[in-house]
Amino acid sequence: MKTIRWGIIATGNIASKFALALNYEASRSNSVRLAAVASRDAAKSARFAEQWGCARSYGSYAELFADPEVDAVYIATPNNLHVELSIAALKSGKAVLCEKPVSLDASSLLPVIETARQEKRFYMEAMWMKCNPSFQKAMSWIQEGKIGAPRYLRADFFLDSPFNPESRLYNPVLGGGALLDLGIYPVTCAHAAAGKIKPDAVSSIIKNAPTGVDSYNSSHLVWKSGFTADLSSSINLQGIKESRSAFIIGESGSIVLPYFWMAEEAILTGSDGAVLEHAKKPFECNGYEYEIREASLCIESGATESPVQTWADSIMVMEILDQIRTVAAYE
Ligand SMILES: NC(=O)c1ccc[n+]([C@@H]2O[C@H](COP(=O)([O-])OP(=O)(O)OC[C@H]3O[C@@H](n4cnc5c(N)ncnc54)[C@H](OP(=O)(O)O)[C@@H]3O)[C@@H](O)[C@H]2O)c1
Repeated sequence: MKTIRWGIIATGNIASKFALALNYEASRSNSVRLAAVASRDAAKSARFAEQWGCARSYGSYAELFADPEVDAVYIATPNNLHVELSIAALKSGKAVLCEKPVSLDASSLLPVIETARQEKRFYMEAMWMKCNPSFQKAMSWIQEGKIGAPRYLRADFFLDSPFNPESRLYNPVLGGGALLDLGIYPVTCAHAAAGKIKPDAVSSIIKNAPTGVDSYNSSHLVWKSGFTADLSSSINLQGIKESRSAFIIGESGSIVLPYFWMAEEAILTGSDGAVLEHAKKPFECNGYEYEIREASLCIESGATESPVQTWADSIMVMEILDQIRTVAAYE
């Protein structure tokens, strides 16, 4: 088996979590290795390399893209840079795992996918929730008809981040806003539960922060099948334990996914409320190991996309996010 040599682009919060998970994966098999890291700042990059035991560090992203001893890159910059850096990496011959959201809207994602297709390189949105065993268990219960036809889904993602116009979450230049950063999880959850079918009707309400990005959004998605989803997200609301569960009600049962975007358990109940199955799968490391495993297996096999998070999945979710903003009543 080939060892996939990973490079990390940017040295922020999520890059460190990814490095921890990558080193965990490297410790359990020869499938992956942390080969290089790049930052806009050479000193930051060197510090990150030292912390995570990575052989080479660069003071620009372009230098890492030019490194012939890197097979795959993980892009962990603010949202506004995802398209440009994904295209640059693919054109340099790298496989790409790019943080969510992979673009700021659906139309700007298309050139990335076209580049992956032309270059015959692997490209995947780092939608770690879809690679998570508990999330996958819940989706398999739906597919196996364990709750009958799904009728209703509720999922919220609230985070109380102090207002700072320069921060990644509030700065429009960096692609901030609750919908792009957090709302993508409830929407992806509903998209998966609906069998990857686009909703037939969307309505929404959005509240903007003073910088013009949304601080809160609430949307109602309706499918002709009779399935509806109530979804919301906010960057200035305190999430509480109860608000962090997604629940899916079907004709003959229901599913609860506590902390659905980072679930370590899934609960299946019958229509009488009795628990039929309580699947528990604590993370082996920090939860990012599953997306690394999925991407590395695909790259090793020569695949250009992952069946878990396909290019079509990313496009459709971005289209739904676009629609939520287009139809929104702004408060
Ligand atoms: N999957 C998840 O669970 C998860 C969780 C949080 C965030 N994310 C996603 O991961 C990405 C990064 O989020 P994060 O929380 O890691 O952000 P962060 O801590 O702010 O780090 C972002 C990094 O991007 C680089 N960068 C490049 N241009 C920048 C600019 N103009 N301003 C600020 N930083 C810039 C910086 O690294 P250098 O200075 O080293 O170049 C910075 O450290 C986002 O797309 C976000 O949606 C995913």
